[in-house]
Amino acid sequence: MVENVSDSGLCLVKKYVVLQLKTVRSKPLKSSNVDLFEKRVKNLGPLGMYAKGAEGYFMFPKLEGEIGNKMTFRGKERLIWSLNNYLGLANHPEVRKADAEASAEWGLAYPMGARMMSGQSNYHEQLERELAAYVKKEAAYLFNFGYQGMLSVIDAMLDRNDVVVYDSEAHACIIDGLRLHMGKRFVYPHNNIDNLRKGLERATRLTNQTGGGILVITEGVYGMTGDLGKIDEIVKLKSEFNFRLLIDDAHGFGTMGPTGAGTDEHFGVQDQVDMYFGTFAKAMAGIGGFVACNKEIIEFLKYNMRSQIFAKSLPMSMVIGALKRMELVRTRPELRENLWTVVHALQKGLVDAGFEIGPSGSPVTPVMLNGTIPEATNITVDLRENYNIFCSIVTYPVVPKGVILIRLIPTAVHTLDDVKYTIEAFKEVRKKLDNGDYVTMQIADISKL
Ligand SMILES: Cc1ncc(COP(=O)(O)O)c(C=O)c1O
Repeated sequence: MVENVSDSGLCLVKKYVVLQLKTVRSKPLKSSNVDLFEKRVKNLGPLGMYAKGAEGYFMFPKLEGEIGNKMTFRGKERLIWSLNNYLGLANHPEVRKADAEASAEWGLAYPMGARMMSGQSNYHEQLERELAAYVKKEAAYLFNFGYQGMLSVIDAMLDRNDVVVYDSEAHACIIDGLRLHMGKRFVYPHNNIDNLRKGLERATRLTNQTGGGILVITEGVYGMTGDLGKIDEIVKLKSEFNFRLLIDDAHGFGTMGPTGAGTDEHFGVQDQVDMYFGTFAKAMAGIGGFVACNKEIIEFLKYNMRSQIFAKSLPMSMVIGALKRMELVRTRPELRENLWTVVHALQKGLVDAGFEIGPSGSPVTPVMLNGTIPEATNITVDLRENYNIFCSIVTYPVVPKGVILIRLIPTAVHTLDDVKYTIEAFKEVRKKLDNGDYVTMQIADISKL
């Protein structure tokens, strides 16, 4: 009896579904929505809109030849000031040898799979132990890219009850990590400790209610202007507030502090930075990155960082190459000494020549000029074509309207002659800028250069 009832019920459901399908079939849905591809190509985005006329020269330029202070751009040798090859390891003979031997022995495929599944190796673990020891933390975990790693550290560490307080100049990888955060976030104006304190007060009130925790995120070195995150002042706030501190030290790892262990070493506060993030893409001249922290949190991250659980492990040749780089970073202080000799000469020379370089406390050296975007474009071309100097130039909206920021990245393989030559060239450029020469100069047609 019961079976009969349920059978007839099933029949009714089937009839209903068939009826619905018939209704759907008999009235085809009219598509009046836009075509996604058409929509995208109509608006290429804030950078893509400049592609025509800029690509190959201002954007996506091709630097050819061995990585160093001089490289080839558009068939001519130029003095390069735009690579984060701080310690000159990219083309160091021992690094090149280690990379080549590791690639020959292991290929680029091994190990296959993500760390958790089938991509684990003794070398990965050894590199983690060495990184942790170097930055004075209990443990470390590797990332296949620093960017994805940072995204997942933030994602894994925070749930909707937690609050994050971060610097307004935070790198895109931090901002994108925050996009995944479902809870509250408070931004403080760049390096403004009073505002950070206010953010912490609000975060404390909120987490008192939600039962969550607080994460503060700053960079060690801000890559555009070279100024340092005020880590020394931030850690002092730990006596007033209960929070954990994560620093993104992409530019500080290998360059800052007496042993190159980072910006927190520079400030003498390594023991108060809870989570240290570094990339291999800069001083290590490689690829990949890591986070270092106490053992329990690394253990937690290992099992919770989605970008590492669901993506392939760093290739063995990269890991072995990174071990060689670590050895040089640790044991060849002369590399850092060379870097800082060039940094000091460049920054002092620029200041002595009356240039505004802002509060840089790191190798990153911004030169600030006043002018319009067309003038900045003409300066870039003049520097590249007439002085054979290749550097990156930044304008509004990255910097305030009317400011032209020329960013110079000194490295251990630059020479004092490179510095002298560049400062002389900059003096001439400033003279032309003051004369208004760059206003009247025809904006270069890069297809003819
Ligand atoms: C401040 C900062 N954080 C993170 C990253 C991302 O690192 P990676 O290149 O290893 O993905 C970069 C850029 O390289 C950076 O400048």
